[in-house]
Amino acid sequence: MKLYMETFGCQMNELDSQLVLGQFRALGYQSIDNRDDADVILFNTCSVREHAEQKVWSRLGQLRDRKKTRPGQIIAVIGCMAERDGAALFQRYPHVDVLCGPGELDKLTALVHNAIIANANYHGGKRTRQVALIGSTARRSGTHDAAEDKLELLDLSRSIGPADDLSQAYVRITRGCNKFCTYCVVPFTRGPEVHRPPQNIIDEVKRLADAGVREVTLLGQTINHYAFQNPDGHATTFAQLLYQVHEATPHLPRLRFVTSFPRDYSDDALAVMRDCPRICHYLHIPAQSGSDRILKLMNRGYTSAQYYDLIDRARDYMPDISLASDFIVGFPTETDEDYDLTAAMVRRCRFKNSFIFKYSPRPGTAASKHLPDDVPDPDKRRRNNDLLAIQHQVSLAENRGMIGKTVQVIVEGQSKLLARPPAAPAQVELLWEEHTCGNPAIAVDKVQLVGRTRGDQVVVFDGPPGLRGQLLDVRIVDAQSMTLFANLL
Ligand code: 5AD
Ligand code: SF4
Repeated sequence: MKLYMETFGCQMNELDSQLVLGQFRALGYQSIDNRDDADVILFNTCSVREHAEQKVWSRLGQLRDRKKTRPGQIIAVIGCMAERDGAALFQRYPHVDVLCGPGELDKLTALVHNAIIANANYHGGKRTRQVALIGSTARRSGTHDAAEDKLELLDLSRSIGPADDLSQAYVRITRGCNKFCTYCVVPFTRGPEVHRPPQNIIDEVKRLADAGVREVTLLGQTINHYAFQNPDGHATTFAQLLYQVHEATPHLPRLRFVTSFPRDYSDDALAVMRDCPRICHYLHIPAQSGSDRILKLMNRGYTSAQYYDLIDRARDYMPDISLASDFIVGFPTETDEDYDLTAAMVRRCRFKNSFIFKYSPRPGTAASKHLPDDVPDPDKRRRNNDLLAIQHQVSLAENRGMIGKTVQVIVEGQSKLLARPPAAPAQVELLWEEHTCGNPAIAVDKVQLVGRTRGDQVVVFDGPPGLRGQLLDVRIVDAQSMTLFANLL
């Protein structure tokens, strides 16, 4: 059986896709890159903004006619869109065979197997479809022991082989979210927050490090809220978990984590980051808005002053820390004055980068029910572009400040970015042509490589091929807002 998978959305989805693919591979499925040749097509979807859903609708639209000529092909929609749309999705896309929410992925291989059998036995009439969703009203209890959580088995089943990317890997520490920010669909699609047992997390990171993985990113929607109640009664806090993972994996060059929530950020966690040399000095802390009035309407639970305090504390602990944020512009009732407070926050906090989104009402969320989407689209667009321009200036200034510094990078591979390498740009191309006469089987001695710093900055530099996954020192010689250019030392 050939399986094609396309993943949309966040790192949690990327990890889910990887785990799910591992399960299918163990059952003998072969993962392929060409959708047309696949027996099974999986779309792992995102619902966080309407735009993300539109991409999947368009894929499903393209497949509608194909299903008529290839009725045996299984189409599965998994992830947040499956959970959010539920069986309503079948009305619009009757050619979909399987729906599986992110909380039920442990059942996916069985669902697909059933769908294959049902399809083989289908001779017209009513089609049988396979559905597994947690259901937005049946939110599972957040107090149950995560070790008994059936989803835990999915993470524990993780296999890592020579074909896997060893430069980096994700490890989940919590699932779901209890925050209910008024704009956000995640608590409905991913269910309540569940914390994994610390030993399972430590073992998983260890196994990855043993296999040669160079960087592990711990994942959680509000990761600093991690707190596990151990069977003996004592709790493991986020700071303790971070420390324990670091201590248990001395052979892991880099450990990082996302996403932080701006409230309840303990000094303990910042101190662990400062004191453990292999934990990256990088924090992604979505602020969403600089206006206290809007933060309140968003149900974020902190003020801009508290956010500034956290940023100041983080910089006190780690002067070299690299910070990133998310912002939503055009939230209901947002005025130009509210927006100006957001712009001031971006200028003052000097983020390495910000992810900036126009507000998009999501069905079922409190904001979509109770607050009119009353900021006209041209205003949303203007604020979006303005904030992007401000962040661009900040990023450029921050990156220019790196020129002359020596930094450690992990090589992620060859650069697709052929903009402004430090050496004469044509030289790399020429080198390739001269050495190989266009024959890729003949080795070249220099290619353009891309790496990532401990602060999550992208660095482009020339070097020999075959360095993927290596840790190297490079000196920064030039900078754009999104990219640093360097010489290999
Ligand atoms: N509209 C726009 N942006 C949103 N985000 C989440 N929900 C919405 C929405 N309804 C953004 C937030 C979050 C990021 C993952 O997506 O900034 O941090
Ligand atoms: Fe969504 Fe808020 Fe939870 Fe983040 S913290 S996933 S924005 S509800």
